[in-house]
Amino acid sequence: MKELKSTIGDLNAIADDVELGQNVRLARFINLYGCRVGDNTKIGTFVEIQKNASIGRNCKISSHTFICEGVDIEDDVFVGHGVVFINDSYPRATADDGRLQTEADWKVEHTVVRKGASIGSGSTVLSNVTIGENALVGAGSVVTRDVPPNAIVAGNPARIMRILGNTSKEIV
Ligand SMILES: CC(C)(COP(=O)(O)OP(=O)(O)OC[C@H]1O[C@@H](n2cnc3c(N)ncnc32)[C@H](O)[C@@H]1OP(=O)(O)O)[C@@H](O)C(=O)NCCC(=O)NCCS
Repeated sequence: MKELKSTIGDLNAIADDVELGQNVRLARFINLYGCRVGDNTKIGTFVEIQKNASIGRNCKISSHTFICEGVDIEDDVFVGHGVVFINDSYPRATADDGRLQTEADWKVEHTVVRKGASIGSGSTVLSNVTIGENALVGAGSVVTRDVPPNAIVAGNPARIMRILGNTSKEIV
């Protein structure tokens, strides 16, 4: 996590304060600022990762995904295409006095994705949830509550379909 990279070439916007690990692989049209990305992680095109978000090692972040401030993704996590994370449950453009809200007007809510979990394409992950180790979120799900380790969940709201065994292929 020590190499600091400043790259606007290759059609990417990687801010100086981004911490990129070794051998991170970036597609084009990526916007990263104030975040950390671990070794060997691969990031697809049109991905944005905001400040104070962190991505572990050996992750795959597929194209068109948005990872906002307050999201912590551990090692070996797969994030599908067009996945959206949320960090504000009651968003407003303006404050009570009519001026545009600033960071002082709201509080970031956190989300954790534990090691080895996978999130299917087109899913939305609401804030204040933990997706457990090795869990699998079905495509197009809306995750509103914590997902237990090894659970497969799907739907809106995402419900448990079944629980995997100790390896991702074994089904209980
Ligand atoms: C959730 C998932 C793992 C389930 O796979 P599965 O266990 O093989 O499930 P099945 O295909 O046997 O479907 C079982 C039931 O769940 C439903 N189902 C499957 N996936 C679903 C999903 N994502 N959302 C809602 N319902 C789903 C099926 O319609 C079926 O319902 P039925 O019994 O009423 O007919 C898989 O469908 C999925 O969404 N994987 C994520 C794929 C993805 O996003 N990859 C990203 C990179 S391409």
